[in-house]
Amino acid sequence: MRTTVDVFAKVKGHEREQQINAARESGVLPYFRPVESPAAPVVEMEGAERVMLGSNNYLGLTGDPRVIEGARQALEQYGTGLTGSRLLNGTTPLHTELEAELATWMGSEDCIVYTTGQQANLGALGTLLAPSDTVVTDSAAHASILDGIALSRAKLRAYRHNKLDKLERQLERASGDGGGILVVAEGMYSMEGDVGPLAEIAELAKSYGARMMVDEAHSVGVLGARGTGATELFGIEDRVDLRMGTFSKSFASCGGFIAGSRDVIEYLRVTSRSYIFTASAVPAALGAAQASLRIMASEEGPLLFAKLLDNARYLHAGLVERGFKVVTSEGGVITPVVPILVEDDWKAVLLWKALYDAGLFVNVALHPAVPPGGALLRTSVMATHDREVLDRALEIMSQVKSEFEAEHGPLPEAS
Ligand SMILES: Cc1ncc(COP(=O)(O)O)c(C=O)c1O
Repeated sequence: MRTTVDVFAKVKGHEREQQINAARESGVLPYFRPVESPAAPVVEMEGAERVMLGSNNYLGLTGDPRVIEGARQALEQYGTGLTGSRLLNGTTPLHTELEAELATWMGSEDCIVYTTGQQANLGALGTLLAPSDTVVTDSAAHASILDGIALSRAKLRAYRHNKLDKLERQLERASGDGGGILVVAEGMYSMEGDVGPLAEIAELAKSYGARMMVDEAHSVGVLGARGTGATELFGIEDRVDLRMGTFSKSFASCGGFIAGSRDVIEYLRVTSRSYIFTASAVPAALGAAQASLRIMASEEGPLLFAKLLDNARYLHAGLVERGFKVVTSEGGVITPVVPILVEDDWKAVLLWKALYDAGLFVNVALHPAVPPGGALLRTSVMATHDREVLDRALEIMSQVKSEFEAEHGPLPEAS
């Protein structure tokens, strides 16, 4: 019997298509805008110069000559690609060297490098968890965490964002599920830039006999005196079993890693499917990540981390002074992400476009990236933004705000 259902039917007339088409027709689509110059504090986009407050290039290392040279050397030494898995023909001395350097820097026994950060989460969660296990994770967990859990078919119990009482309730329930328990939290949440009560989360996890993993994608190279992330900032390295990091943000490259105990990392090396059944990262990506790591681990690292957070403080204060409602982390930890609350989706898109036209690029976060009614403009700084550029951005914000409010009504106010 022939089926009458076309699996492609869903590609026509879906809700997202309608929204995207409406925004495209009005010329306000905030996505897929091409960046035509190197990632830097000021970029060229669609033929005009724009201040870049919408990247994860936190340390600004994508344009650093030492990082470019690291990529070039790796390219020249190992070629453009490795055409195979780490298990077979995709391991070079650069991989093993980088893994060893990362393990030393992170203060862990071992480290495994994946081709992307997403694959690191898929690989670690999808491999270590079994269908009989339970994962307790934050309701704002990144898609790659949720996908890794789905892959493992472990039971998922989510707790309300950063809420310890809800976490405890889920841990109680999880302890009745009968399998092992893994708590997964993020070092810094990407959209709102907030840092949760990680020490208390780790303590609760321990009291229920659970293992703990922290996704440090946005916090590695940013938080802690050595810059290894939120786990270091809170001094809980001994209570966190696995730390995930990515090269796609402060490392100015592409790739991801898991740092942990030797036996777990060895197990991942021989069993994790997103490591074995995919091509190894291109040498240039690894060379750039290694050069960035060496900068972070040098005396220059802490200076860059301090500059970054200083810029974040400056932008935050400047936005509040100009009447914007900036979302602040409950724990008061300053991070490079400075989100402006707009609440309404359509208003957020229109405000984004007005800023873009005035020479400023930021990111728009709409539901489901944020809770319903929580639309925001996600601004983020780099260590390499200078005061002149940040002042230019603030000036644009200020001017656009008054014109925008005259036409569209008030934006949420700073409290
Ligand atoms: C919290 C979090 N985890 C994992 C990832 C995946 O990292 P990558 O972009 O390197 O694949 C991201 C990146 O978007 C992220 O924000």
